[in-house]
Amino acid sequence: MTSNLLKIGFIGGGKMAQAMAKGFISAGLAKGETMISSCHPSDVASAKAFKDLGAESLFENVPVVEKSDVIIVSVKPSVVPIALGDIKNAPDIKADKLFLSIAMGVTIKQLEQYLPKECRVVRVMPNIPALVRSGASVFVTGSKATDRDAQLTKKLLKSVGTCEQVTENLLDAITALSGSGPAYIYILIESLADGGVKMGLPRDLAYRLASQTVLGAAQMVRDTNVHPGVLKDDVTSAAGSTAAGLHVLEQKVRAWMEWQIVVVFMKCGPVGTAAHTDPPPQRVLINTSLFKGFSFWKLLCGGGWLQSANLQRLIWKELKGKLAQQFHFSCCARFKEGIVNTTTYKSN
Ligand SMILES: NC(=O)c1ccc[n+]([C@@H]2O[C@H](COP(=O)([O-])OP(=O)(O)OC[C@H]3O[C@@H](n4cnc5c(N)ncnc54)[C@H](OP(=O)(O)O)[C@@H]3O)[C@@H](O)[C@H]2O)c1
Repeated sequence: MTSNLLKIGFIGGGKMAQAMAKGFISAGLAKGETMISSCHPSDVASAKAFKDLGAESLFENVPVVEKSDVIIVSVKPSVVPIALGDIKNAPDIKADKLFLSIAMGVTIKQLEQYLPKECRVVRVMPNIPALVRSGASVFVTGSKATDRDAQLTKKLLKSVGTCEQVTENLLDAITALSGSGPAYIYILIESLADGGVKMGLPRDLAYRLASQTVLGAAQMVRDTNVHPGVLKDDVTSAAGSTAAGLHVLEQKVRAWMEWQIVVVFMKCGPVGTAAHTDPPPQRVLINTSLFKGFSFWKLLCGGGWLQSANLQRLIWKELKGKLAQQFHFSCCARFKEGIVNTTTYKSN
């Protein structure tokens, strides 16, 4: 039976690789012995985790490619050029294989440049609940990837949750929402439970109730297809206790939750190259007071209230030149009142 299974290799055997490997095993798509990972020599713990699954674990990348049908690139973004460079520089390597990269911000174009030209590339954004087969993944196919590659990608990722094919321009927003999203929900669960504990619940009961509540509410949204606002109204009686709780949440949490997606989106962008260390940043956030008082020092990367994803470099250039004349920015504005749609701002 094992011989029918794909040989899946992981370049980088960290958290996401382990989550996906365990998910593939639970789904019956792989067995420990049909998987192989390469880990950094210092990362004995990951090597051991793969060995514990019954997989081979090496400290070199090239043999992983040679022994696998599909290779999952699961190193940190900044390590991608180094790890894939090992493969490109290997003499006589047969690399006409499918590479799925899960590295945040490393584009299809970059991946195709880093790898030997015969490689087929798919860029994937999974998330950590793949570990319990409840992941939310999306993927984008590269220029040489075939329909069969897309189907195989879908099969692999669907075995560990949901999977949709998207276009690459959506990936940074998806990274901000579902790639990083589990961490936000963990905070939400923790704070729900903390509230319960403050009111006298035993902590373990509080965590069980909080996590099941989040799971159940999420399932309601996903499975009923009813707008979350309608579901919320359904459980909010006039002058009731839920309404009182919502009053606080609407003021404090809703805007911040939306805003942090914007902030993460702004941080996404080509990484894995020297570019991410060099100014100007990929995206620029601008405090709205900039437009009133020309307080240029308030120009921030990763903080502020206005963003322009499209004119980022232009804006940076303009602002560095102290911006003498009137300028128009097409900005996706996120100001105190909430999200404002794409708007044109004038400096005077
Ligand atoms: N975690 C998430 O929720 C999530 C979600 C979506 C996408 N991703 C993406 O998944 C990728 C992996 O993230 P992660 O959270 O799994 O990170 P991680 O746990 O740090 O895993 C990366 C692994 O690669 C190893 N490594 C470093 N240099 C290497 C080399 N030259 N060759 C082979 N392996 C090397 C690291 O070893 P050392 O620790 O010794 O450096 C580490 O074990 C990232 O690109 C991230 O953007 C993560």
